[in-house]
Amino acid sequence: MQLKRFATALLLGTAMTFAVAQASELTVVPEAPTFKGLAKINYVNASDIFEFKALPAYHEPGWITKNFVDTGKLPKVADRLPKEPLVYKAGNMPDGIGTYGDVMRHVIGGRPEGWNYEAGQTQGWGGIDIGLYECLTRTAPLFEVNAKGMEPLPNLAKSWEWSADGHKLTMHLIEGAKWSDGVPFTSEDVMFYWDDNVLDPNVSPLNGATQETFGEGTTLKALDDYTVEWTFKDAFPKQYLYNMAYGTFCPGPAHMLKPMHPKYSKNTYDQYKNAFPPNFMNWPVMGAWVPVEYRPDDIIVLRRNPYYWKVDESGNQLPYLDELHYKLSTWADRDVQAVAGSGDFSNLEQPENFVESLKRSAEASAPARLEFGPRLIGYNLDFNLSANGWGEPDKRAQAVRELNRNDHFRKAVSMATDREKLGQSLVKGPFTAIYPGGISSGSSFYDRNSTFYYPFDLEGAKAELKAAGLEDTDGNGIVNYTDGPMKGSDVEITLLVSGDYSTDKNLAEGVIGQMEKLGLRVVLNAQDGKQRDALNYSGQFDWMILRNGSEIATVVQNTPQLAAVGPKTSWFHRAPEGGQMDLLPFETELADLVNKFTATQDEAARVDLIHKYQEIYTKNVYTVGLTEYPGALIINKRFSNIPSGTPILMFNWAEDSIMRERVFVAADKQGDFELHKDSLPGKPGDKGPVE
Ligand code: GLA
Repeated sequence: MQLKRFATALLLGTAMTFAVAQASELTVVPEAPTFKGLAKINYVNASDIFEFKALPAYHEPGWITKNFVDTGKLPKVADRLPKEPLVYKAGNMPDGIGTYGDVMRHVIGGRPEGWNYEAGQTQGWGGIDIGLYECLTRTAPLFEVNAKGMEPLPNLAKSWEWSADGHKLTMHLIEGAKWSDGVPFTSEDVMFYWDDNVLDPNVSPLNGATQETFGEGTTLKALDDYTVEWTFKDAFPKQYLYNMAYGTFCPGPAHMLKPMHPKYSKNTYDQYKNAFPPNFMNWPVMGAWVPVEYRPDDIIVLRRNPYYWKVDESGNQLPYLDELHYKLSTWADRDVQAVAGSGDFSNLEQPENFVESLKRSAEASAPARLEFGPRLIGYNLDFNLSANGWGEPDKRAQAVRELNRNDHFRKAVSMATDREKLGQSLVKGPFTAIYPGGISSGSSFYDRNSTFYYPFDLEGAKAELKAAGLEDTDGNGIVNYTDGPMKGSDVEITLLVSGDYSTDKNLAEGVIGQMEKLGLRVVLNAQDGKQRDALNYSGQFDWMILRNGSEIATVVQNTPQLAAVGPKTSWFHRAPEGGQMDLLPFETELADLVNKFTATQDEAARVDLIHKYQEIYTKNVYTVGLTEYPGALIINKRFSNIPSGTPILMFNWAEDSIMRERVFVAADKQGDFELHKDSLPGKPGDKGPVE
C-alpha cells in the first residue's frame, strides 16, 4: 500500500523545482528534486557481516551426500572446505539462516565471449562474471557498513598487515580453499594474474587492471602458498585495497590459463585470450556457481560449486540456491520479465521503463518488489582529449580532438545542452536532475557548492563557438573550420554510444538534436556493448556517451578512473601505445588531486581534495554531464535475505551487493525452475553437469 502511494506521488511529479536558467554565467548547480519513500539501509559494522573460523560440523544439501559423497564421487563436505571458511553471521542476514534449493533467473542483454576474464573477455555482464570470479577483497556489501573507519572486506585475502613504515602489505590468503574442480587455490593463482596478465602489456583484464591501478612502481611477490607481499612507493596507500576488489583483482584458475599463456606455450596472445570459448563447460571458478550449459542467444545455466568456501553460522555450505539462469535477451526485457515474474531480478536503470514498472509493482498481486535507491545513475558526454595519437585519428578526427581540448568549445557544448529537457524526455517527474558532470549527487563526497555548470543558453553557446574559431562560412547551418588543415570543412563529430540500451540511444539522439541547433553535425555511432568497449579502449571515438561507473558514485571504488593518473586509467584520455600522456593543465591538476586522495589517510583532507576536484572538473567542463537519476532494484518476492535499501549501483552492482550466496527461497515458496536438478558441475571441458 505504501508503495502504491509512493508510486502515485512519483507519477504526479509534484516536487519539480528546476531553476530557470537565464544567462550563461558559471553557476552552482540547482538542488535536485526530492522524492520520499526510499527504503532504509540498516547500517552495521563490517565485523557484523562475517568472520573466518572453523565450525564443529558442516552440512550440505541431502542429495549431494547421498548421490555424490556416499558413492565416493566427492570428498566429504568438511574435506572440501578450507581450514577456516568464511562464515556469514546469522544476525546480519535479514531473514536468518536459509534453506537449500531453487533458482535465480537472471535476464541479460550482453553475450558471452568466453571465460578468460583475466585476458579481457566478457561473459555478458548482468552479474555473471561477478558470480564466477572471487577477488582478494570485496566491497559491494559496504553500502550497509558504517562510514567511520570503513575499509574493504576480506575475501580471498582473509587478513592483512601493514609494515611499520607502511610500504609493505602482507596478505594471508584463505588456506585450503579449492577451485570448483577441486584444485587448490594458492598464491600461484594470484601471481599468475599479476605477473602474466596485469603486468603483461599484451594482456588487458576485463575491467582494465594495469600496474597503475595499484600505484606506479608497486610490486607483488609470493612468500609461500598462502602469503603474498605488496611493496608500495607511498606509505599506507590503503586506497589500493579497493582496487583489489571486483573488477581489478579477481584471479582466474592458473592451472587452466597458464598452460595457454604465450609465455608458457606456443600460443599467440589472441589464442590465449580465446582459449576457453563460451561452449567450454564446467569452467573452474572460486564463485558460488559454475557454468554447465550454454545455448547461444538462449541461456547460460550454472550449478552450485561443491567446493564453495563460504558457509552460514550453522555450518551449511553456501550457496543456498542450487542453480542460476542467465537468459540471453535484452536489458529492457530484463525489466519486463522481472516485473512480470518470468525473470527474478533487474536493476531498473532505464528511466523509459520506470512508469510501467512502478504501476505494475504497486499492485498487490505483483510477483516482484521494486525499491528505489539514491540518485546514483548518471550519464556523461565524454570528449576524446588525446591529441597525440591515441586511436590513430585521421585528419578530420584530429581536428575534432583539437576542438575537444579548446575551453571555448567545451563551454559551447555544455551551454547548448538543455539538461532539463534531456532528463524529462527519458521520464517525466522528479526522477532526473540537472547533472553537470563529476561526483554524483547521491555520493557521500558530493558538495553542491563545488559543482558548477553553464545553464542552457544557445546564443551564449554560439558566441563560445565563434571564440573557438568556428563559423558558418558557407551558410548551411553547420559551422566550418576557419583555420588549419580542415579549413572550410563543416565540423562533423562522431558520437560513440552503446546500442544495447534505449537510454543511451535516446540521450544520444537528444544531444545530436541540440548540437544541430548549435551548428555542430554530430553523427551517431551506436555499437553493441562489446564493440563499443573495444572502440572506447582503443581510443577510436570523437565523443562518447557513457553511463557512470562506481567511481562517480563512491569516489573510493575505481578511484584511478577519476582522472588520467596513468596511461590507461581514464575512459576518454589515454596515451597512445608506448607513448606519453598529453594532459591539459587542468587535467594534470585533477590527476594530482586524485593521487593525493589515494595517498592520504586524513579523512578531512580527502573530503577537501574531492571538493576541489569537483570544482576544477566542472568549471573546466572536463565532461558534459547529461542527467542523473535513481535506480530501483526489482526482485521477485519469493527471495529472502535481500538487504533493505540495496542500491543498484554503489561499490558494485546489486547482483553483488545482495550477496547472492546467502539469498534463499523459503521451502513453501520454492518454484519448479531447476533445469539440472540434483546435478553438480562435471570436469572442466566436459559437456554438461553430472548426476
Ligand atoms: C550491466 C547492466 C547493469 C548490471 C551490470 C553488472 O551493465 O546494465 O545493470 O547488471 O551489467 O555487471
